[in-house]
Parts: sequence; structure tokens; C-alpha cells
Amino acid sequence: MIIRNRDNGFNHPLPSEITPQVAYRNRRQWLLAAAALGGGGIATWAGRNAWAQAAAVPRPGKLAALPGRRSTVAGAVTMEALTSYDDASSYNNYYEFGTDKSDPASAAGTLRPRPWTVSVEGLVNKPGTFDLDALLKLSPMEERIYRLRCVEGWSMVIPWVGYSLSELVKAVQPQGSAKYVEFVTLADPKQMPGLRANVLDWPYVEGLRMDEALHPLTLLAFGMYGEVLPNQNGAPLRLVVPWKYGFKSGKSLVKIRFTDKEPRTAWNVAAPQEYGFYSNVNPEVSHPRWSQATERRIGEGSGLFAKRRQTQMFNGYEPQVGQLYSGMDLRKFF
Ligand code: MTE
Repeated sequence: MIIRNRDNGFNHPLPSEITPQVAYRNRRQWLLAAAALGGGGIATWAGRNAWAQAAAVPRPGKLAALPGRRSTVAGAVTMEALTSYDDASSYNNYYEFGTDKSDPASAAGTLRPRPWTVSVEGLVNKPGTFDLDALLKLSPMEERIYRLRCVEGWSMVIPWVGYSLSELVKAVQPQGSAKYVEFVTLADPKQMPGLRANVLDWPYVEGLRMDEALHPLTLLAFGMYGEVLPNQNGAPLRLVVPWKYGFKSGKSLVKIRFTDKEPRTAWNVAAPQEYGFYSNVNPEVSHPRWSQATERRIGEGSGLFAKRRQTQMFNGYEPQVGQLYSGMDLRKFF
């Protein structure tokens, strides 16, 4: 996201938009790995999987394994080259740990992802408090390889581990009057130094319409690259909504509330003219201060030399989700 400077309006681009040097290294490593496997730089399945493992194994501080079976949900496994683990875990937005892209990786060590509970409230027949272990066991883990496109104009391809949020939604039995789901994330000043900054009205809140929450692509993620989530990526559990801008994917969830009213989301409250409730990836609707027509894939160069890709409608997930919005004016409901 772009930070609002309360004195001067808005600042951009952020210096942190510059790809860290590690991105070059990892890209090179990936190309070498793919070439060694006979892929010649083309993202073959074998090359991709070997790279995912290669990226996960040799680094220090390896996290607990959390493998998932390959998902069979339509559209859940893109064939594009993976972003390296190092990039995905060092170039983050998690404002509770600072606004610079490198802040979460260095500051999120204070987050305690266990013990952890998520309370389910509102218009449901089975409200309650779920312990993390119960959530981990609720449904078989799947690996989903999603593109994640940030509103700031960059994207990544990450192998997530989790299951469809719909599994949890169905388990708690929403009432007929429940039209939306609100997601509230942790806001604990003892664990999160970034809460001292007046950037957003904490806690970070996001929301989905009920049909979006029930869509099989909406992922409740507990891991990535075959391991539990690193703190900076939203441990111990987060949303990943691949057809929406990245800020819809709330990290470190503590409350899920079913409601009949559209939730007031953190970014929409902070800058309603810039961040709408829907926030579907849409190359035709510009952010008021910049275009959304193209994107930079993290790991593919930086600054003036960055390769730009065409952004796809609904981030390429239109065949799966386009019908959710039929008849809606997507300029009005941005
Ligand atoms: N969740 C919380 N709680 N706080 C945040 O600042 N940032 C969002 C989203 N979820 C954010 C959050 C934004 S802007 C993006 S782009 C994604 O997380 C980034 O996820 P990643 O760092 O795992 O790539």
C-alpha cells in the first residue's frame, strides 16, 4: 500500500518499491535450477517443484513442515514460475510491523503465533472460539499456487498451503440473514511495534461478500512453500483472495464475524476514494493516482529495468469468479 503522510497528502513511489538485491540473486538461481533440470528457463512442473524445494531447504531458520496435497479446485494452481521464498518472505506489507517492505521480516519476530484462537461471531448458528489446532484439522491441507497482485503494482506467485475458507464457513452455519463476512486481524501493541504509527485505524479489518467468502478459490492459508507461514506473511493463519488486490488478504486473523452489513474495511476507511470494498483486480479501473494496467513481478528486475506485465482482469481468475459480478458496474463498485 502507499502510505499517507498526514502532513503532505500522499507520498509515492516509496523507496521500498525498489526490488532488494536478493531478488536478482534468486531469479538467477531459479533460472539456473530450471536450466539444470532441462527446463531451459521455462517453468516446467519438475523445475518449479524442484525450485520450491531448493528454495525451502538450505536457508537457516527453517519452519515446521506443512505439506498439502495439490489442489483440484479449478484455477487454483497456476503454471507460472514461483517467486523465490526469500522474496516472498522479505518483501512484505504488514503495517503492524512497519511500513517499509523490509520491516515485517526484521520486526515480526515478536509475533507469537501460538497459542492462537479465532473467534467466530455474528449471524451464525454455531458461533465459538476455535483453537488453532482445531482449525488446522478442520479440512485436508491443499497446495494452491496463486498469483497475488498488490494495488501498488507488483505481483508474486506463491505456493500457499491451506483449504477453502468455505469449509469453515459451512461448519459454523451462517444464518440466512448473513450477507457479508468481516475479518479482524490481531492488534496487540506488545507484539506489534507498527501499531504506534497512526497509519490506519487498527485493527486491520477486511471483508468479503458471502458468495466471495464461499468461493472455492478463497483460501484460509496456514502455510507457504510446504512450511507453516512465517510471521511476516501472516502467521498463523490468513486469507488469500487471489482475484482481489493483496490488501484484501488479511493476515493473522483473530475474529471472523458474519453480518448483514457491508463491513467497514481498514483501507476503505483510511482512503475511501482510493480503496473500495470490492477491490477486484481490474486493469481498466485506475487507482486515482496511478494506472493498474501493468504490474512488475517481484524477481523480474527493478526500477527502470523492471519488466512490466499486462495486468489481467480479476488477476487472471475471470473464468472462475467473473460471474460473481455480472450486472455490476465495476467502475462504481471498485
Ligand atoms: N494484513 C494485515 N493485518 N496488515 C497489513 O498491513 N497488508 C496487506 C495484506 N494483509 C496487510 C495485511 C497487503 S497491502 C498485502 S499486498 C498483502 O497482505 C501482502 O501479503 P504478503 O506480504 O504475504 O505478500
